[in-house]
Amino acid sequence: MPKITVIGAGAVGATTAQRIAEKELGDVVLTDIVEGMPQGKALDLMEAGQLMGYDSNIIGTNDYKDIEGSDVVVITAGIARKPGMTRDDLLRINSNIIRDVSQNIAKYAPDSVIITVTNPLDIMTYVSLKTTGFEPNRVFGMSGVLDSGRFAAFIAMELGCSVRDINAMVLGGHGDTMVPLPRFTTVSGVPITELMPGSTIQRLVDRTINGGAEIVNLLKTGSAFYAPSASVTNMVEAVLKNTGRIMPVCAYLNGEYGYSDIYLGVPAKLGREGIAKVIELKLEANEKKSMDNSANAVISGITALNKL
Ligand code: APR
Repeated sequence: MPKITVIGAGAVGATTAQRIAEKELGDVVLTDIVEGMPQGKALDLMEAGQLMGYDSNIIGTNDYKDIEGSDVVVITAGIARKPGMTRDDLLRINSNIIRDVSQNIAKYAPDSVIITVTNPLDIMTYVSLKTTGFEPNRVFGMSGVLDSGRFAAFIAMELGCSVRDINAMVLGGHGDTMVPLPRFTTVSGVPITELMPGSTIQRLVDRTINGGAEIVNLLKTGSAFYAPSASVTNMVEAVLKNTGRIMPVCAYLNGEYGYSDIYLGVPAKLGREGIAKVIELKLEANEKKSMDNSANAVISGITALNKL
């Protein structure tokens, strides 16, 4: 069985472990700095195995030695932005966490593929790449799969059609500057630009961009975890099964789309080596402008990080 480590056993991490086990993608190691908590959640998941019909072995630990030999490592460790905390505060705290986590991955699982989930996503993925020194194809982040999943949900609700027939495409940074692309978003192959007026599309695009905040406002404490864990599980599956699926992911760009040495959401083909290929779409002027806006936001984040 492949070995998958999930670092951070909070809402996203624990639900990811559950989804991986229920799909029997491999054995799972769930780690956290909090003592006992990952062990408790792992044991609970083991006790669900007979009921849900999976044979995955799930262990919880506080010791990085247990991640040795991992094929894939998912990073969800971090803290959420709390009231009164600036973006720079969050950047400082989470980048320190990602540095610590990444050093341990490089030490104990040097051959793994890393998928980051911790926010601010594009910057944290950059920190993980620079800390591990891994090849860029082995370090990428979960952003566009979630944003596209949200866009697809809103389109299905609007049209009253099956969400399974929708193929949505959201690129760019994971945040306010994300770039939903209606032209590349289809229902059974038909672009939504042919199915809905522009004003409706704009409303759904805006809702997608605010998708994370909408959930935070409803939950009051905590942020989304069902769709984020489903998104990263899809990515883990594409890697481990070497499917060659094309998904929008937060990938390292080295000239693609005209950007270098940054992470940005772009379509990529996933396989056992991580990112097998970044797909370059022909963007129209307004789409490229939105991507530039996103790239500039990521560059500002990296600059802010370097100044901390
Ligand atoms: N090493 C390991 N685990 C850590 C560390 C660390 N250095 N620092 C914090 N953690 C753990 C916390 O103990 C907590 O259990 O990370 C976990 C984070 O879980 P939650 O607070 O429940 O956050 P969650 O909702 O899972 O979100 C995690 O994913 O979607 C993003 O924005 C979200 O950045 C956030 C991340």
